[in-house]
Amino acid sequence: MAKINIAIDGLSGCGKSSTAKAVAKTLGYKFIDTGAMYRAVTLYVLNEAVDLTSKESVIQALEQITIDFRYNQESQKNETFLNGQNVEEEIRSMRVAGSVSQVAAIKEVRVAMVAQQQQMGKDKGVVMDGRDIGSVVFPEAELKLFMTASTEVRAKRRQAELREKGEEVALDEIMKNLEERDRIDSTRDESPLIKVEDAIEVDTSNLLFEEQVQKVLDLALQRI
Ligand code: C5P
Repeated sequence: MAKINIAIDGLSGCGKSSTAKAVAKTLGYKFIDTGAMYRAVTLYVLNEAVDLTSKESVIQALEQITIDFRYNQESQKNETFLNGQNVEEEIRSMRVAGSVSQVAAIKEVRVAMVAQQQQMGKDKGVVMDGRDIGSVVFPEAELKLFMTASTEVRAKRRQAELREKGEEVALDEIMKNLEERDRIDSTRDESPLIKVEDAIEVDTSNLLFEEQVQKVLDLALQRI
């Protein structure tokens, strides 16, 4: 069977990564969570107290950063490593979520991440989720999706995820963070989040997780 690339873009917290992961598993494809890469850069910058308001400082810090994904047999998932250290948990915190869009708006950060992402998907058979996959990383992807959901639904899902990890955050705070990230991501100069013409929109507000996975799988199977 011919392999394709599947690009999943969309709003923050609408289930792109979990859907992409499940679809990749069923198809035997590689799942790549590009948000994790921008989060890892942000974690480094925060931990090293790099001045976030100085683009030059963030760009300089980039030279010290190596990001890779490694498969964990136990959790059966790819985990994010920053300079050889597992940061999978830490990058999901509200601390990182609060600054990631600012870091991701810097052109040089994007150029470095996109080059690595294109390398990972060059042989096809990849399900990649992010904000610019269909527009910049893989404009030739055989299937492009644009996922959305209401802010409240997204915030409730994110709150449950954080709670599972022991982080208790008010719904309001999460809603504000999601809206703020969507605003910055959609209005930035460098590869803003857009729905490209050939992307299929999937609103997950009223879909069960299994339904949203099945929908993407059906669309993928039509193209394989
Ligand atoms: O997907 P996730 O919510 O983990 O992404 C975190 C942030 O990383 C986004 O809000 C966005 O600012 C940035 N991002 C991006 N381009 C991508 C993936 C994520 O700018 N391809």
